[in-house]
Amino acid sequence: MFVELREFRRNGVIRISSDIRNLKANDMQKSIDIHCHIMPGVDDGSRDIETSLQMLKIAEKNGITHVILTPHHKPMHHNVSPSHNRSYTEQLQHAADKLGIDIKLYSGNEIYYSDETQEELEAGKISTLAGSEYVLVEFHPTNTFKAIHNAVYRVQSAGYMPIIAHVERYSDVVSHPSYVEELRDMGCYIQVNSSSIMGKYGFGISHFSKKLLKKGLVHFIATDAHDTAKRAPDILDCRNYVDRKFGEDYGRKIFYDNPMSVINNEII
Ligand SMILES: [Fe+2]
Repeated sequence: MFVELREFRRNGVIRISSDIRNLKANDMQKSIDIHCHIMPGVDDGSRDIETSLQMLKIAEKNGITHVILTPHHKPMHHNVSPSHNRSYTEQLQHAADKLGIDIKLYSGNEIYYSDETQEELEAGKISTLAGSEYVLVEFHPTNTFKAIHNAVYRVQSAGYMPIIAHVERYSDVVSHPSYVEELRDMGCYIQVNSSSIMGKYGFGISHFSKKLLKKGLVHFIATDAHDTAKRAPDILDCRNYVDRKFGEDYGRKIFYDNPMSVINNEII
């Protein structure tokens, strides 16, 4: 049996991990979705459990094997507490299991960054991704790079590893692609939406996203699915496109291996 041994260096510490769960990564065309709004009735995503189950069926057909549910966590909103988040995730898992849907679910949040975020993270009021040290953070589309940079620093100061949600949506970053390299260099991770790459938000966003892929700056591609129609979890077209254009190794890394490292709380 093949057991993968990896060395992880962080802050001068070497961690050795052997994890046979990564064996599944050998299956081609499997994907893990780290950003979606499939949890029912908690945000502007799935409105009820039937919709959530339909979305999971679509995800399964698209080769998605694991999903981290990331309902919005926003200031001035009724947010789902981490304990409710875990319990709703378990309930949905139970319903999916009953229908024979072969997807493993985990809880998380998409955090709309605010002045309270660092304090809320430190107080354990926000769900990290699958209970790891990774957090998915979004910003207002017109936030300046300086604001994003400062936010990343504060999240890191709180002891978490920020993943920037749909980096292709921030106008200042899109106008200055080198900012993405700066974010990467400061230890930040980059997520792009599959729909953006496939042109659902126009040529400019698609072109920018592909430029990031070409430079190897993308760590994750996710669906950001909200429903069963226009914003469904249909990632397979994008997976095929990335495999074809940028190579299967890179495809496997950003659709499966990196997300699996998040689930296992391993350094990427
Ligand atoms: Fe989202």
